Amino acid sequence: IRVLVIHGPNLDRLGEREPHIYGRQSLADIDARLAEEADRLGVQLESMQSNHEGAIVDALSRAVGRFDAVVINPAAYSHYSLAIRDALAALPLVRVEVHLSNVFAREGFRQRMVTAGACSGVILGFGGESYVLALRAAVEMVRRQER
Ligand code: DQA
Repeated sequence: IRVLVIHGPNLDRLGEREPHIYGRQSLADIDARLAEEADRLGVQLESMQSNHEGAIVDALSRAVGRFDAVVINPAAYSHYSLAIRDALAALPLVRVEVHLSNVFAREGFRQRMVTAGACSGVILGFGGESYVLALRAAVEMVRRQER
């Protein structure tokens, strides 16, 4: 099982960026934790980060045939990118959206979730641990489909 993890805009600044909201873990810390969990689950993991909408769309379309599942934190794009939503909707793979913060407990403009509806499921509000839960959920869903 091969899983692609996509971190969206500004997540390269995790750890220093609004730590009261996003925590003190850096993106490298989260990726290391994910690599450890992937080993435990016996799956292959590749991780990327981009601040660019088009690069994320490209990565999603290239994922076909190369991965079984995508775990994605579209960050601010979650709230308005129809291009990323359409790319997710067109992707015949398991798709899990993830957020560090509980966006439903935050500002009104974060309540509109545009990409989430094109995903298999969403996990949010558990800080860096959200990613680990999302990876487990993605792998479980792929295994269920293979059975
Ligand atoms: C976020 C929530 C988004 O609203 C925000 O724009 C982010 C991070 C999260 O993981 O909590 O950049 O996706």
